Amino acid sequence: MTRGKFIAFEGGEGAGKSTQARLLAEALSARGLTCVITREPGGTAGAEAIRALLLGTEGEGWHPRAEALLFAAARSDHVERLIVPALERGEWVICDRFVDSSRAYQGGGSGLSDAEVLDLHRIGSGGLLPDLTLLIEVSPPVVAARLAARDGDQADRIGGRDSAYHAAVAAAFRRFADAEPARFARIDGDGTADAVRSAVLAALEPLLP
Ligand code: TMP
Repeated sequence: MTRGKFIAFEGGEGAGKSTQARLLAEALSARGLTCVITREPGGTAGAEAIRALLLGTEGEGWHPRAEALLFAAARSDHVERLIVPALERGEWVICDRFVDSSRAYQGGGSGLSDAEVLDLHRIGSGGLLPDLTLLIEVSPPVVAARLAARDGDQADRIGGRDSAYHAAVAAAFRRFADAEPARFARIDGDGTADAVRSAVLAALEPLLP
């Protein structure tokens, strides 16, 4: 049995990652590949419970180190119970965010070093990395317009942080992509969903059977 491929979407809020994950799953299924579509934090019952703890806006919130540990714990459960078993069955796993989000948000934005975030990932998830990480990059005015158009969408605890925090997150993602060009594809997310979908499929072409 050939191991499946692990594809992650990354980027800031309003980048269109969830839409693109769904469109990619449809395109791969049309080619006869079995896909699992999932997200972080979340994807298993335990990780979804941790998601509610992390993103809820009740109470005083988490200290940065506790926040990083909770993301790593959610990911550990997700990797162990969902991602690795699916890959071993030969399925493709398409994940809306993975460890590079922890590196960008808890590392780049919240004061832990990149090495510390990667240590937590090694302990929790054996250091698993995607075969390809699609970084969807959207310019700030386009993000602002998209977020404003999401009717009644209240920002969560992390999405609601200030623009300097989100700018640091975007800069961190760019640094990671530049440092590991073989693992990342940078995708211009300003266009229509269809244009972005074509760019995603082109970036994925070398991995297709
Ligand atoms: P989203 O699923 O709507 O993108 O929301 C998840 C939020 O959690 C988003 O603000 C990014 C944040 N996040 C982190 O801070 N670290 C992580 O490791 C992950 C997966 C998400």
